[in-house]
Amino acid sequence: MILCGHRGVASLAPENTLAGLREAHRLGLEWVEIDVQLTRDEQVVVIHDEKVDRCTDGRGWVRQYDRNELSRLDAGSWFSPAFAEERIPLLQDYLALAIRLGIHVNIELKLYPEDDAERLCRRVSEVLEQGAFDKHMLLFSSFEPDCIKFMHELQPDIPRALLVERIPDDWQTQLQQLDCTSLHCHHRHLTRAQALAVKAAGYRLNCYTVNHIDEAATLAAWGVDMIFTDQPQDYLAAGWNPN
Ligand code: G3P
Ligand code: MG
Repeated sequence: MILCGHRGVASLAPENTLAGLREAHRLGLEWVEIDVQLTRDEQVVVIHDEKVDRCTDGRGWVRQYDRNELSRLDAGSWFSPAFAEERIPLLQDYLALAIRLGIHVNIELKLYPEDDAERLCRRVSEVLEQGAFDKHMLLFSSFEPDCIKFMHELQPDIPRALLVERIPDDWQTQLQQLDCTSLHCHHRHLTRAQALAVKAAGYRLNCYTVNHIDEAATLAAWGVDMIFTDQPQDYLAAGWNPN
């Protein structure tokens, strides 16, 4: 079972920063997950929350910042003074470093209620085209089915995953309609029967956010392909293979 660093390696470096990506590389991970959103001037930035408050020294909504304003915020000190130089990365900078380090990236398209799915997806697609990034290194996911639909149109060669908290009854229909390769769900709500059914139908099954080895061992026994974890170092210390 693959260990995917959640938001980089969220327990060892500020989430969704280049420092977190370097940490993932240091640990030997092949996969990280990040969250992306748009600034007011339509730059794609790597950040989870709708507001900058929790993970920077700024205040307010990501969508109301221009990229230049956002780039001045300190995105590391909240985590530790040692990371005071970290900034909210642009997607293109994040991907350039990830690919140089040989790390695959699950790009989670974060769509908050006031956001526009098509606008976000078009800009992400433009970033990928401009950077000529290796599409084999990428995977899209979103809780918002519209984002999956737009990415299917814009970047059909990049695999897609539907993100859910609980697996809905019509999961197979949704995965077929959206032409997804994977289903991502919260591990706490997953049952063994669901896991077996998803795998038997030929899909990859990935679970978030799994920070305890005993829970991960159960998921591995059920055939789960990948877990998103804030603490991959715990698994590695226990002798797990990251890939
Ligand atoms: O992509 C898996 C996981 O990151 C989804 O939840 O809120 O941590 O982005 P969240
Ligand atoms: Mg995420």
